Amino acid sequence: MTLQEEIKKRRTFAIISHPDAGKTTITEQLLKFGGAIREAGTVKARKTGNFAKSDWMDIEKERGISVTSSVMQFDYAGKRVNILDTPGHEDFSEDTYRTLMAVDAAVMVIDSAKGIEAQTKKLFQVVKRRGIPVFTFINKLDRDGREPLDLLSELEEILGIASVPMNWPIGMGKNFQGLYDFTHGRVEVYQPEDGKRFVEFDENGEVPTSHPLTKNPFFTQALEDAELLLDAGNQFSEEEVVAGQLTPVFFGSALTSFGVETFLETFLEYAPEPHSHKTVDEEEIEPLNPDFSGFIFKIQANMDPRHRDRIAFVRIVSGEFERGMDVNLVRMGKKVKLSNVTQFMAESRENVENAVAGDIIGVYDTGTYQVGDTLTTGKLKKAFEPLPTFTPELFMRVQAKNVMKQKSFQKGIDQLVQEGAIQLYKSYTTGDIMLGAVGQLQFEVFKDRMEREYNSETIMTPMGSKTVRWIKEEDLDEKMSSSRNILARDRFDHPLFLFENEFAMRWFQDKYPDVELLEQFSV
Ligand code: G4P
Repeated sequence: MTLQEEIKKRRTFAIISHPDAGKTTITEQLLKFGGAIREAGTVKARKTGNFAKSDWMDIEKERGISVTSSVMQFDYAGKRVNILDTPGHEDFSEDTYRTLMAVDAAVMVIDSAKGIEAQTKKLFQVVKRRGIPVFTFINKLDRDGREPLDLLSELEEILGIASVPMNWPIGMGKNFQGLYDFTHGRVEVYQPEDGKRFVEFDENGEVPTSHPLTKNPFFTQALEDAELLLDAGNQFSEEEVVAGQLTPVFFGSALTSFGVETFLETFLEYAPEPHSHKTVDEEEIEPLNPDFSGFIFKIQANMDPRHRDRIAFVRIVSGEFERGMDVNLVRMGKKVKLSNVTQFMAESRENVENAVAGDIIGVYDTGTYQVGDTLTTGKLKKAFEPLPTFTPELFMRVQAKNVMKQKSFQKGIDQLVQEGAIQLYKSYTTGDIMLGAVGQLQFEVFKDRMEREYNSETIMTPMGSKTVRWIKEEDLDEKMSSSRNILARDRFDHPLFLFENEFAMRWFQDKYPDVELLEQFSV
C-alpha cells in the first residue's frame, strides 16, 4: 500500500459525552467490532479499576479512572480507526480539551432520557470552534427516554447545530422494536422472533407487508415521524456534515449492542480523512506532504511508575513516522531522535509498526517536550499554530510544606506550568501562588507529581470556582483588589482579576465602569 493510500484510510476521532451517557460502553462495542478486544468489559474494567495491567498511575488506580486520554486503534471495513479517549467527570482536564485539537471528527453520545447535559455542551463548544464534523449517537433506547423529536430540537436549541436523523427508533423502553433505517433501506429488529435482525425494504422501498412489524402501532408511528422529518426536516448534505454545520443523528442501545455497528459503518463512510494543519505562517501542511510533521497535544507523566517515564502524545500531521528518525524540535531549534516510541491499542501499548498522518504516537520523554511542540523533518521548518488555552474555572492556593525546600518547589511549579499541566497565577498584592484548572483532577495530578518528581510536598487550599477576566496594564490599580476580586498576574505577567462569581464581576463593573474586562488577554 502506498503512503497516500495508508493516510487516506485513517479515521481519527474522539467520543464526547457527559459521564454515564454510555461512552465507555459504546467504545467497547466499537473495539469489539474492530477485533481489538475479545470481550466487552475490558475498557470498563479499566474504568472501574479492575484492569489487569498495572502500568497506570497510582492515582489512577486509586480512583479507578483513566487520568488522561488514551488512544485506541483498530481496523474496520478497510479503515484504520483511532479513537482518542476524552475523560469526563472529575478527571476532566485541559488535556481533555486539547485532545479535541488532535482529532478530525467527534462522536457525541447522548443519553435519550437526559438529553444534552453540561459536559456535553462544554465539549461540543470546543469542537464547534474547530469546525470539525460531529456525529450524534442517541443512546439507551432500550429504556424509556425523551421523545426523539424533542431531542433533535434540543440539539438545535442548546447546541445551535442543525441535525439530520440517519435512522429512527421504533418505540422505546419496553416497547422498543428496532430502528427504521431509511439510510440503508432496511429495518433493524431489536429482538427478532425469527432471528432475522435485518429486514430489507422491498422494491417499493417499504418493509414487506408480510412482516409482523408492519402491524405494530409503534412501527406505524415511526414511519409517520420519519416521513414528516424527511419531508420537512433538514436534508442530509455531506458538505455540511464535513463543515461541522449539520450533525447526522443515529439511535441505538450501546449496552445491548444495538445500532452500534450500523452507526460505525455509516460514520466511517462520511468521517473525514486526516485534515491539513496550519503553521504560524498560515501555511496549510497537507497530510500527503512526504515530510514528517506533528504536534504534541498532551504529556502524560509516570504511566509506568517503575520507569518514571513521561509520554508525549504526538498527532502526526503529515508524512510517515520511521523508528529512530531525527526530527527538528522547532521550539528549541534542535534535532531529537525518535527512537523510543509507542502506539496505543486497547489492551496494551505496542511498539509502532507503521504510523502515518492521522495516527497518534507516544514518544518517551525525559523532560524535553512541552504541550504544543511541533516536530518536523525535511523542508518543513515552521511551528504549527499554538494550541488554544482554556480558561480555568477552579482555583487553589499552593505553598511548599517545608519552607526550606523553596527551590525544588519553584522548579516543580515552573516545569509543570510550562508543560501545560496546570495554569499559574500570582496575587498582585500578597505574591501568593494560585493554580487554575478546568477539572479537579488536574490539582491532584499536580500535587502527586510535585511529590514524586520534585520531592516537594505542597499545601493546597481550595479557593473554589472563579471567573477570570484580564485587564489592560494601564488600568491596573492595586486599590481595586479585594477578596471577592483578586488582582493577579498570569504566567506571562498579564494582569487579571479572579472574580468570586458573576455577581462580583457585575458589581466591580458598576464600580469601575472604565476598566475593560477581557475574556482573553490582548495588547
Ligand atoms: P460513560 O463512559 O459515558 O460514563 O458511561 P458508561 O458506558 O460507563 O455507562 C454508564 C451506565 O449506563 C452503565 O451502567 C451502563 O451499563 C449504562 N448503559 C450504557 N449504555 C446503555 C444502554 O444502551 N442502555 C442501558 N439501559 N444502559 C446503558 P451502570 O449501572 O453505571 O454500570 P454497570 O452496572 O453496567 O457496571
